[in-house]
Amino acid sequence: MKALICDDYGPPEKLKIADLPEPSPSEGEALVEIGFAGLNFFDLLVIENKYQAKPPLPFSPAAEFSGRVLALGPGATGFKPGDRVLGYTGFGCARERLVCPIDRLVAIPDGLSDEKAAGLTITYGTTLHALKQRADLKPGETLVVLGASGGVGLAAVELGARLGARVIACASSDEKLKFVRSFGAAETINYASSDLRAELKRLTDGRGVDVVYDPVGGGLTESALRSLAWKGRLLVIGFASGEFPKPPLNLVLLKGCDIRGVFWGEFLNREPETHRRNMAELLADAASGAISAHVHAVYPLESFRDAFGAIARREALGKVILKLGA
Ligand SMILES: NC(=O)c1ccc[n+]([C@@H]2O[C@H](COP(=O)([O-])OP(=O)(O)OC[C@H]3O[C@@H](n4cnc5c(N)ncnc54)[C@H](OP(=O)(O)O)[C@@H]3O)[C@@H](O)[C@H]2O)c1
Repeated sequence: MKALICDDYGPPEKLKIADLPEPSPSEGEALVEIGFAGLNFFDLLVIENKYQAKPPLPFSPAAEFSGRVLALGPGATGFKPGDRVLGYTGFGCARERLVCPIDRLVAIPDGLSDEKAAGLTITYGTTLHALKQRADLKPGETLVVLGASGGVGLAAVELGARLGARVIACASSDEKLKFVRSFGAAETINYASSDLRAELKRLTDGRGVDVVYDPVGGGLTESALRSLAWKGRLLVIGFASGEFPKPPLNLVLLKGCDIRGVFWGEFLNREPETHRRNMAELLADAASGAISAHVHAVYPLESFRDAFGAIARREALGKVILKLGA
């Protein structure tokens, strides 16, 4: 079977397509034929050995997938061959067939395509956890989303609007802002051409914003923190800018506000029941069309450099998907 392989840390150009022996499932495992694998910004960090999770070499990148169950190992129950499934494994999904513990699989509901299902778990899962369990976002509150047209950013725009917040979507180009408006953003700010703090002050009549969703980091974080209202919450999602911000903590005191960390990968291990409820809600919403699970583009496996390049060049609008099957 074909697999994308990282056997030496570095940029996507160093990845290779290799022919691997067919895997077979052991006790409690399923063998899945992968149709599509979802790529995320953090895959770029993983293959460069710059991420907190460090899979042993050689490994396949891509942390999430959709496909069909091919076979079950001894003691694996709950699914049967032919079932449409999606799953999250942290890494290893960019390959034609994958063995994983049966409890990693989730049934794909009718009405949700395999392409969309492949890229929904991480971005929407992280965001629902962030907005619900971490921010306790309430209807009528103001939610600012940085990097709003990217994977997690677009999910935050959609889920924020769905939870009844007034969403202010922020991104680095007018083209990206036009795109996010159609996903529920009430207002937009181009932070490459205007001052984020001044614009947020103007849009809230000086009151400040309730919740900031920050997957970007760098200098934008302090501007956003300075824009929080009394008892506001800043959600630390990630650092796509490559820079860990170090904002002055006197701001937290003066605003009586919170900086709240979001670590979805740890949340699903520590709070599996809440994670399962979140996923059930997301899958029902995606199947009904209430959330888009928007796909930027689907790339054949052979075009993996273009797929990673779209993320690295900051071009991806929503999810980038790799196609594994014929
Ligand atoms: N906490 C968690 O559990 C969790 C879960 C998933 C992802 N994350 C993190 O969230 C972040 C975003 O992930 P994603 O998959 O949504 O990424 P993405 O689709 O590539 O989106 C990232 C956005 O960040 C902005 N950005 C600013 N500077 C950038 C730069 N130098 N390079 C690339 N993008 C830059 C871009 O928007 P503009 O051009 O508009 O600025 C881009 O749209 C990553 O740091 C990831 O590790 C965290």
